[in-house]
Parts: sequence; C-alpha cells; structure tokens
Amino acid sequence: MLEMLKIPFTHSGSLAHTISLDKALTKILIQHHGILTPKYQLIRTHRYTLNPGLRFPLIIKPNSEGSSMGIFNDNLVYDKIKLYERVNWLLIKFKQPVIVEEYIDGREFTISVLGNNPPRVLPIVEQNFSVFPNDIPHIASYEAKWIFEDNLPNPKDAYFCPAQISSSFKSKIEAICLRIYEILNCKDVCRIDFRVDKNENIYCLEVNTLPGMIPNPDIISYLPVAAHEAGFSFEGLVNTILNEAIKRYNILSNKKTVSKMNNYWPQSFLFAKKNH
Ligand SMILES: Nc1ncnc2c1ncn2[C@@H]1O[C@H](COP(=O)(O)OP(=O)(O)OP(=O)(O)O)[C@@H](O)[C@H]1O
Ligand SMILES: [Mg+2]
Repeated sequence: MLEMLKIPFTHSGSLAHTISLDKALTKILIQHHGILTPKYQLIRTHRYTLNPGLRFPLIIKPNSEGSSMGIFNDNLVYDKIKLYERVNWLLIKFKQPVIVEEYIDGREFTISVLGNNPPRVLPIVEQNFSVFPNDIPHIASYEAKWIFEDNLPNPKDAYFCPAQISSSFKSKIEAICLRIYEILNCKDVCRIDFRVDKNENIYCLEVNTLPGMIPNPDIISYLPVAAHEAGFSFEGLVNTILNEAIKRYNILSNKKTVSKMNNYWPQSFLFAKKNH
C-alpha cells in the first residue's frame, strides 16, 4: 500500500518480502544463481508422490511461515510413514503448501546484512546445539526457540557471536549473503539462515526480509545480537535502518544532516571491515 501511495518506508519492497515469505520461490531464485539450498519438494495437496530422489532424514515445514511456526521437533522424520502423517497434519493445520526438504546435518549460522550502497555483513551468529538435551533434535524448532531457549538461565548460551570460523570460510559465506541480498533486491536490512554440512557446503535455508527485532536482550533476537556485537546500541540499529532508507529515497536535501546520519555506524566495525 505504501508503494502504491508513494509513501517512503524502511526495509525491502513488497516483491522481496513476497519472495522471501515463500520458501520454495526463494530457493528457486537463489538456486538459479548457483547458490546451494537443500533439495526439496513442494507439496500442495494430500494427493502427491514423494520424489524418490529425496534422502531421509527429511524436515517438513509450512512454506510460508516464520519464527518456526509449524516447525516442531516431530517434523524431522526418518521414514515414509512418519512423513506422510506429518505432511497431512501440516496441510490441514496450516492450510498452505508444505516443503519437504533434505535435512542438512551440521553447523547453523544466521547472518544479518545491514545497509545499502554498500550493504555490510554483521558479525555471524551460530546456533549452539550443545546446550540442547540429548532427546531433542538439533533444529531451531518451535519448542527449541520458544520454550527451551527462552528458559535457559542465560539466553546467551543459545548461540555464539561472533561464530568461531576461519577467515576463508567467513569470506565465502559473507559473499553468499551479499549475493542473496542483491538477488532478492533487499533493502536496509535482512537476516539469512544457513546450514553447513561436513564438507563445508553452504546451504541457504531461507531469507528473512523482516527479521525480528526484540529490544530486551534476555529474549533471543539474532539481528540485535549481531548488531550489538558490531558495536550498535539498539537505538543505533533502529536509526541506522531508518537513515539507510532516508538516504535511499534521497529525501533530505541538507548535506550536513545527511552526513550526520552515518554517525550510528560504529567506527570500530567499519574500520575492522575495511581491514578484512
Ligand atoms: N533443511 C534443513 N536442514 C537442517 N535444519 C533445518 C532445515 N530446514 C530448517 N531447519 C531447522 O529449522 C529451523 C527453522 O527453519 P526455517 O529457518 O526454515 O524456518 P522459519 O520459521 O522461517 O525460521 P525463522 O525463525 O528464522 O523465521 C532452522 O533454523 C533449522 O534449525
Ligand atoms: Mg529461519
């Protein structure tokens, strides 16, 4: 509506949001550009034939949700019986197509990109699965995100930031992030989820063009976590997103005000990036 009414707004345009809220569409698009994403099948109705090329374990997700809605521990399945049962349940419960995807066993990273011209990658966050009890799968499921992690004595134990990775791997995954940001025409900010297998293949799981931003540091919210690690206050992050949009629309004519708008970027972060 804002686009139609020509009212400026922060974050990406409607097309980028539409694509990223459709996991299958995002996968088709990034795959087209040579970016890896887990092999999958989109299931629209109860009458379907499972692609025999898909290898168990498989994870089942509603195609257009976020915040792990509909992604329960039981959605990781090891056989066809459980798969059919779970797909049927999700189709009924969520009334939308369901993605059946190969499970990538390995490390998980979530990476925020901030700004335009040039966009910058914030410190990388890694999910810490070692705090999970033995009987729950290593996925950021609904139960893990909203029950288990929120009840940890220290919520910071749920992740590592910055992730301990080699500088060559960091450069590689950062380049993929910036490429995805460009392909989807993201603006101002986004957060991208990845899984990495034992051979260091980097698979993009999904793109969040409206990443959650919870100011309370006791509740896990990965964009503010990454921004904090880069040296931003929460207010600095909010103002940066706003200023990046203002610069993009070119709606301030006073040059002094425009130059002041860059002040929220922590110099230590910008300087470290230049040296990288
Ligand atoms: N193919 C996969 N292989 C391994 N784990 C997966 C896969 N797909 C999803 N997961 C796990 O499930 C979690 C949620 O999946 P995904 O990020 O696609 O859903 P979401 O609800 O859109 O997430 P968000 O909370 O970031 O909006 C991931 O963080 C990951 O732990
Ligand atoms: Mg996700």
